[in-house]
Amino acid sequence: MDETERMGRAICARVDELARITEDPPRLTRVFLSPEMRRAADLVLAWMREAGMAAHMDAIGNVVGRYEGTKPGLPALVLGSHLDTVRDAGKYDGMLGVVTAIACVGRLAHEDVRLPFAVEVIGFADEEGVRFGATMLGSRAVAGTFDRALLKLKDRAGTSLADAMREFGLDAARIGEAAKPRPGILAYAELHIEQGPVLEAKDLPVGTVTSINGAARFEVEVAGEAGHAGTVPMDRRHDALACAAECVLAVEARCASEPGLVGTVGRIEASPGAINVIPGAARFTIDLRAPDDEQRGRAAADLEARFAEIAQRRATRVEMRRVHGLQAAPCAPWLMEQVDRAIAAEGIEPFRLPSGAGHDGMAMIALADICMIFVRCVRGISHNPAEAISMRDAGTGFHVLLRFIKGFAPKPA
Ligand code: HGY
Ligand code: MN
Ligand code: MN
Repeated sequence: MDETERMGRAICARVDELARITEDPPRLTRVFLSPEMRRAADLVLAWMREAGMAAHMDAIGNVVGRYEGTKPGLPALVLGSHLDTVRDAGKYDGMLGVVTAIACVGRLAHEDVRLPFAVEVIGFADEEGVRFGATMLGSRAVAGTFDRALLKLKDRAGTSLADAMREFGLDAARIGEAAKPRPGILAYAELHIEQGPVLEAKDLPVGTVTSINGAARFEVEVAGEAGHAGTVPMDRRHDALACAAECVLAVEARCASEPGLVGTVGRIEASPGAINVIPGAARFTIDLRAPDDEQRGRAAADLEARFAEIAQRRATRVEMRRVHGLQAAPCAPWLMEQVDRAIAAEGIEPFRLPSGAGHDGMAMIALADICMIFVRCVRGISHNPAEAISMRDAGTGFHVLLRFIKGFAPKPA
């Protein structure tokens, strides 16, 4: 086993250790401000300290490690990714980036290398937005763009974000303390699995990300009329779930009509939810993405108009409410060149590709220029327990990120 394989094995072992911290074993689900997030944060804080970093939990629950440069207090190259997961998640989405960044700092410390800048590693506490619907809450707090109106968001149990923070031992009034001052940050770099099939198809272990597609999320409420399943004739019904189902197919049809546009209904519920009652209410979510913000906005407007037509014909009411939106985030050319150089130095052909998936860089771009390194994942599967990477590719990702860090040159003023 060579050094790349050995490093890959060590990184995958830590990813496995994190994957065992879940609210619903044997599945992996770890959401914002949960007891599982606390256990994962404690484990990552210990790894950060072991790697020679000063480490703490910030005011919104992110874990932050800092490795000083040639002298204390220098501006930092910030590395990071997220520690929260979707439901029944794969174990590399987010965790691979945090574990690999810590391993890189550990190698610097082991070699007693001090750089002309500090290196910080952040494990973001909420990138997926599974619990409260809005995403990137951790990175938005770090970027200083956290919208306090989000504190009123409630989870499925009816707990507000503010209350969940209090139960977790955090004070929502102090979220502002998580914000980093722009002068102290030189750039943000994130290593992440590709979550798509492109690198595998190109037979490349890593790639340089050009931009992160923009995303918008909506909650759609449908109001109909509950009724007796046995007595109401079909032509006199105002079935909220049937109306929602027609809207769901409208999302699929509208998004399939344009290249690059994707739309997903990830959750649908109906009430009262009894087998012999015509649903009087239904609700579903929409995740809408496109490389171009204007294209995404047009699709959302078309869907709202289409839903109104369906509701009118069915004598139901449909309300579409946007709960989250983040613009497309371009990676900085001066950083992409440095990522390409690190990849080439590993003897790999540099290759650039966009990200269809969202990442914390969409929030961090408010604070600093961003770049991302993608690592190939098996069959491009993600947000699925079958998500997988090879140990060798994990090791290659480590070597590329380490070269990027060691060779990092801040943007000329
Ligand atoms: O949804 C996404 O694109 C990301 O995994 N949060
Ligand atoms: Mn994800
Ligand atoms: Mn992710």
